[in-house]
Amino acid sequence: MATLKAVLVGCGDRACVYAEEGVHNLGLMEVVAAVDPDEVRLAYVREHFGVKKEMCFRDQRELLALGKVGDCVINGTMDKLHLETSLPFLEQGYDMLLEKPIVNNKADLMKIYETAKAHGCKLMTCHVLRYAPFYRKIKELILEGELGEIVNIRTDERVGVFHSSVSYIRGKWKSEKECGSSFLLAKCCHDIDLLCWLNAGTEPKQVFSYGGRDFIVPEKAPKGAGTRCLVDCPQEVRRECIYDVQSMYLDNCLLPWYPWQCTGKNYTDVTMEEKIESLKTYNPHGVCAYKAGGDIADHQNVLVKFKNGSTAVHSLMLGCMKAGRSIFITGTRGEIEGDVENGYFYLRKYDKKTSTYTERQFDFHDRQGETGGHFGGDRGLVLDFCEIMRGAEPSVSYTSIENSVTGHLLVYAADESMKEARPVDL
Ligand SMILES: NC(=O)c1ccc[n+]([C@@H]2O[C@H](COP(=O)([O-])OP(=O)(O)OC[C@H]3O[C@@H](n4cnc5c(N)ncnc54)[C@H](O)[C@@H]3O)[C@@H](O)[C@H]2O)c1
Repeated sequence: MATLKAVLVGCGDRACVYAEEGVHNLGLMEVVAAVDPDEVRLAYVREHFGVKKEMCFRDQRELLALGKVGDCVINGTMDKLHLETSLPFLEQGYDMLLEKPIVNNKADLMKIYETAKAHGCKLMTCHVLRYAPFYRKIKELILEGELGEIVNIRTDERVGVFHSSVSYIRGKWKSEKECGSSFLLAKCCHDIDLLCWLNAGTEPKQVFSYGGRDFIVPEKAPKGAGTRCLVDCPQEVRRECIYDVQSMYLDNCLLPWYPWQCTGKNYTDVTMEEKIESLKTYNPHGVCAYKAGGDIADHQNVLVKFKNGSTAVHSLMLGCMKAGRSIFITGTRGEIEGDVENGYFYLRKYDKKTSTYTERQFDFHDRQGETGGHFGGDRGLVLDFCEIMRGAEPSVSYTSIENSVTGHLLVYAADESMKEARPVDL
């Protein structure tokens, strides 16, 4: 069968992850063209996916001028660019895999939705968690009626210290003003989507949210802290500070593709001397975490009431010691409890013999590493996208634009509620 001809728009980390899955791991895709203003990224896709030099563009207008050259676009641009990099390609009839968050407001969301509809395009959002075998199994059990009616869903995401720093305190999602996304939208539009997807028999009616920026603020910097760790922060302060750059970026850099992006080089090519020099001078990751100018919330709780009376609550926090995502679903006939990071969950049923409960474990532990990022979600998403493009029936996880809208609207309403300290109706 013919491979899917994909065009990469924004050839950064995410787009290349999906291309890697589609081209090299699944063998269902080829990359026929690429757009990115960064020559380093274009060189990477030429080398890695064999894109011809004449099909690499620094401005999307040059590619659009050629007309439709592939079957679909993988849009991996940053949050703020999703609208302007999606509409023209949808207007040319490209199907699209679009990174989340789709956009940050209802008007633009509806514009994308309407444009895809008007041009008959299949548009899938990268809600990768729906495809992780862990969450997919939970969805299947709900559809099989194992839980009865859903009464309440409780989820949380605890963002670990390193990830918090590299993405949300010093990184490119630290400021809603700059990046366009709130903390909830950037980090947990997945989780809010899960609440709506798992409870798909109904719709959200009202939301209330508490939270704010209260802990990672200049006033809470350690006493005597400087402005850049390696420049003016005393050793005795750095020794006690969990955000000190030495251990975080130089000794144990867990997500190395983020902090060295600003050097303009592939992270594998940046020398230790260049890293240190960048942290001392221009690298935003070298700044004191408490004084890095972030404006997103550092903790937030979202409480949702659905039309059928069921409820849900999601909590998200920065700076956690042990990172993780947990879930507890209470149903009228059963309950589920698990943590995706641990790789297993329990299904519990009432036991009439003992008046307590029976418990069954569903273990995905041994599949966590094998199946790609996001607990297997990345590969599952790309596989589903390729199959849908070939005309297959959508899977239970299908993240079409139609059923990704509700979760986004709920995020916008939750943020409005947090900022205005009042419940918001949907
Ligand atoms: N699904 C997930 O779980 C998940 C995880 C991380 C990030 N994301 C989302 O994925 C998106 C991309 O994140 P990333 O970390 O890969 O970003 P990135 O910075 O690595 O990649 C973005 C690329 O877009 C390029 N670019 C800039 N302007 C452009 C333009 N006008 N046209 C085309 N390309 C342009 C940049 O040069 C860069 O190479 C973001 O929206 C982010 O929120 C999703």
